[in-house]
Amino acid sequence: MTKETFKAFLVTQTESGQFHTGIAEKTWDDLPAGDVLIRVHYSSLNYKDALSATGNPGVTKKFPHVPGIDAAGTVVTSAAPQFQENQEVIVTGFDLGMNTWGGFAEYIRVPAEWVVPLPQGLTLRESMILGTAGFTAGLCTEALEQNSITPAEGDILVTGATGGVGSIAVSLLAKLGYSVVAVTGKQSQNSYLISLGASSVISREEVDDKSGKPLLKECWAGAVDTVGGNILATAVKRAKYSGCVVACGLVSGADLVTTVYPFILRGVRLIGIDSAKCWGSKRLAIWEKLARDWKPANLEKMVTVITLEELPEKIDAILKGETVGRVLVALAG
Ligand SMILES: NC(=O)c1ccc[n+]([C@@H]2O[C@H](COP(=O)([O-])OP(=O)(O)OC[C@H]3O[C@@H](n4cnc5c(N)ncnc54)[C@H](OP(=O)(O)O)[C@@H]3O)[C@@H](O)[C@H]2O)c1
Repeated sequence: MTKETFKAFLVTQTESGQFHTGIAEKTWDDLPAGDVLIRVHYSSLNYKDALSATGNPGVTKKFPHVPGIDAAGTVVTSAAPQFQENQEVIVTGFDLGMNTWGGFAEYIRVPAEWVVPLPQGLTLRESMILGTAGFTAGLCTEALEQNSITPAEGDILVTGATGGVGSIAVSLLAKLGYSVVAVTGKQSQNSYLISLGASSVISREEVDDKSGKPLLKECWAGAVDTVGGNILATAVKRAKYSGCVVACGLVSGADLVTTVYPFILRGVRLIGIDSAKCWGSKRLAIWEKLARDWKPANLEKMVTVITLEELPEKIDAILKGETVGRVLVALAG
């Protein structure tokens, strides 16, 4: 094994428990064991990466650490026969960037089971504009479809709409013919959300019910909730009869205070999404759809491109809920 050196965004913990970030030079031998060594061309910044980079123990326990739950690039070497040198591949989720060094580096080494061949119809850049956010929006869309929520059933609420998952969910659902009600805390971004395909935009306060009532006027056939907490509870209370609320995030809060009334009087369905461990053929099928029929038309409208050196500023912004769309991290070339 050559000792190729490369740049990595490294998070270290001091003896007093503080976390620091910086760019470090590493070698291939520093990478974890695994079947496939990949030269990373692009990564992306997700909310979970910001938690990892700031030492959240629910995400990362071992330091020094390289975050980055997403990576797309080319195979350098593979001990698994299904991957060949120079093949373009995607890795998202599993343990990447959690307790396994992740995509905020010029190289990763991972188990073959985590690797997805880049589907025809996507470039490496597009695959990481989508990244875990796009894959999750795809899983949420599939959950709505599997629960018989067609465009004819009514409006779909998308919360945290200017965020990564939110932006792609708005765009994807609109492309599939759904009428999307986008919820945002950023009034200045209404025209951005309309440009992604939202039919209307409402403020966070309008879906943050404090009345204490167990049920509210029926409004939405479905919801993709990226924020959790009382906004998720409100989406459940305001779902239409037989509606479907898909929960995937917690930026507003991890608690969910509700009664059983929406479920037993209106037949509302509450579906949970986990993208990280979504395995095998389902993972491939979602990526294939994202590369073809589900590929959002306006990916470039949602992207800000940064380097590894610019990560700290964007990590800070995503933790404050201030980013808009997707942050693409450009590495090789
Ligand atoms: N289950 C899974 O597999 C999975 C996969 C990916 C992500 N996630 C989760 O989904 C969530 C979103 O991830 P992301 O990467 O899209 O993050 P993101 O880009 O930061 O988007 C989150 C958006 O939520 C809104 N928001 C922020 N703080 C809020 C608050 N206190 N109350 C209400 N809304 C708030 C903001 O949008 P507005 O200003 O437009 O409201 C923000 O842009 C995170 O919790 C993440 O961990 C889960």
